[in-house]
Amino acid sequence: MRIDIISAAPNLLESPFNHSIIKRAQQSGIAKIVIHDLREYGLGKYKQIDDTQFGGGAGMVLMMEPIVNCIKKLQSERSYDELIYMTPDAKVLNQSTANSLSIKENLLILTGHYKGVDQRIRDKYITKEISIGDYVITGGELAAAVLVDAVIRLIPGAIGDEQSALTDSFQDNLLSPPIYTRPAEFEGMKVPEILLSGNFPKIDDWRMEKAFERTKSIRPDLLKDE
Ligand code: ADE
Repeated sequence: MRIDIISAAPNLLESPFNHSIIKRAQQSGIAKIVIHDLREYGLGKYKQIDDTQFGGGAGMVLMMEPIVNCIKKLQSERSYDELIYMTPDAKVLNQSTANSLSIKENLLILTGHYKGVDQRIRDKYITKEISIGDYVITGGELAAAVLVDAVIRLIPGAIGDEQSALTDSFQDNLLSPPIYTRPAEFEGMKVPEILLSGNFPKIDDWRMEKAFERTKSIRPDLLKDE
């Protein structure tokens, strides 16, 4: 999979992809992430990329031309399965969206900064808008990093033990059950007996029961049919 990210603050994206699973996925060729500095497509001597809002109001808006020029250049090199815009005013990312994106070939992600982008970009070029939660962060870069991480770890081969992605929280619309490691007793707290029993069918049942209890108590909304 190839993921191109267009950003007005590309420095914010330097670190998140250089560690652990996402770094390894790139090294092994499973994923390629390419970051594009919107400023390089800026207008005039000062490489302008933003301007004030029509109708007044605080905050700058990313202009159409630099973004369209960058998108068109990338589209002339390959075709994209989705052109995604990260924004708080969109449907919130969930595991099912991450699953469906993980089987795509090429994704192009546009990150907003300042107030966001001119609406006409969203109307004409964007095929999918994604929020990472009902709160506002400074720009879409960290949101894009969250999305890319959630997607890449699902590509077969990205995680050594493939089973581990399949048993993540949310994979069945359930939170994860409690997990434990050695020692079996610490400060008087014991690991549940069943996990030491070696009876794996029973352990699976126990985990499912605990996952369900936890979901019911913390995130009952996940148990409702969509
Ligand atoms: N940009 C700013 N806040 C965001 C959010 N919650 N999700 C996606 N992009 C954002």
